[in-house]
Amino acid sequence: MNFEKNILCIGAGYVGGPTMSMIADKCPQYKVTIVDINEEKIKAWQTDDLPIYEPGLLEVVKRARGRNLFFSTEILASIKEADIIFVSVNTPTKTFGEGAGKASDLQYIEKTARMILEASDSDKIIVEKSTLPVRTAEALERVLNSNDRGIRFEIVSNPEFLAEGTAVRDLENPDRVLIGSRETKSGRKARKEVGDIYRNWIPKKRVLESNIWSSELSKLTANAFLAQRISSINSLSAICEATGADVREVARNIGTDTRIGDKFLNASVGFGGSCFKKDILNLVYISETLGLKEVAEYWEQVIKMNDYQEVRFVKNMLKNMFNTLAGKKIALFGFAFKADTGDTRETPAYYISKMLLEENANLVITDPKAIPNAKIDLEPVVSAYTADKMLSFEEDPYKAAYDADAIAIVTEWNDFKVLDYKKIFDSMRKPAYLFDGRNILNHKELFDIGFEVYPLGSSPLTKYS
Ligand SMILES: NC(=O)c1ccc[n+]([C@@H]2O[C@H](COP(=O)([O-])OP(=O)(O)OC[C@H]3O[C@@H](n4cnc5c(N)ncnc54)[C@H](O)[C@@H]3O)[C@@H](O)[C@H]2O)c1
Repeated sequence: MNFEKNILCIGAGYVGGPTMSMIADKCPQYKVTIVDINEEKIKAWQTDDLPIYEPGLLEVVKRARGRNLFFSTEILASIKEADIIFVSVNTPTKTFGEGAGKASDLQYIEKTARMILEASDSDKIIVEKSTLPVRTAEALERVLNSNDRGIRFEIVSNPEFLAEGTAVRDLENPDRVLIGSRETKSGRKARKEVGDIYRNWIPKKRVLESNIWSSELSKLTANAFLAQRISSINSLSAICEATGADVREVARNIGTDTRIGDKFLNASVGFGGSCFKKDILNLVYISETLGLKEVAEYWEQVIKMNDYQEVRFVKNMLKNMFNTLAGKKIALFGFAFKADTGDTRETPAYYISKMLLEENANLVITDPKAIPNAKIDLEPVVSAYTADKMLSFEEDPYKAAYDADAIAIVTEWNDFKVLDYKKIFDSMRKPAYLFDGRNILNHKELFDIGFEVYPLGSSPLTKYS
């Protein structure tokens, strides 16, 4: 079969997999291939047990797989035949050398660029799908266009704004798609060509074009603004708890102001996920290297407030459970960094679990999708703190809460909203505590059942104070 275009994506992760599956689903006229160095992952994409959990994704993949969507480990051969290559490899925070702990680790990007250079024998458009520091395209141009074979690579920035848990919905109907390029004739031509892919199903006015540096910086900015809203409302949750104000009322009262808007105003145990922290740290690092110390400090505070919120949550548990958690059974409801995903990268639950284990609590973790990742993440912590098996995992939340002293809700899974809390209460040790780190439950009802209820950002409902 002859396809109009050969599109390749390097990196079959949380971004590459869903975005390219959506393109393949919406554009049967294009051949879409997704490659990865991770063979296991590619094998899993070829089955119905996908390597990531995302509602609705399997249906999208199944419609296109084998028709115009292919998963492969044949990276060099796939590069050779591609017209457009999306690069969607990971860009974690650097853990070594200059900029360690803040700068973006670009080794995977550079390796990818060198593979593209090695395998190519014709001109190609290279699309930055990964989130990258502003001006990375310049470095990519230098690596790729240094070839003496007369091959010309045009670099286009097309950052991804999907949110895990709602990736399919976000990709099908995005607020906007952003495409940046050099403001040259060839640059504008390349960005039009990439834009045309999305215009197959997305209204023209939502496909935004810009200069390439603005595009690169906009992705970091979007994540910084979103995270900043969470840290802002979380900072106020602490004031609410100390004054009798209710953070949910404050959020409603300010969110109805159209200049502020009501999104991202839920106080919680803090944000997680692979992106917010890493992208803000990257922004901090860029600001520092540009000599903009005040700007760096401003954004760094968003991370500090998030760390503070996690610590505050555990301290609150400790203070209200007679200043000792040693030997007490705590059921942690949720480990994923948000609902509807199995992703646990930078999840507040990890830090909360670690602090609870340091207090010698007897921790039981339940989560509908994240137990496999939780086991991997907590492995090093297990060997450090759990000599006498103080950490266990339980799929059934009723069993997790059985005989527990406290429940701590850390992820806002719908599954936790619909449990029979009377049954749970009856099976727990008394007093039975419930710390709602996501404010997803009806606190008055829980109090009436008999729980000692500690919402986040409002006064506790307790019989004892
Ligand atoms: N996860 C999100 O919600 C999200 C949203 C928007 C943007 N982003 C950005 O997208 C990028 C990818 O994120 P992700 O969450 O998909 O990461 P991921 O770790 O899930 O996937 C990256 C994949 O790239 C593969 N890879 C690395 N080097 C490779 C190489 N040389 N050749 C082939 N494959 C290679 C890895 O094996 C991995 O499977 C990051 O820059 C991230 O910041 C992520």
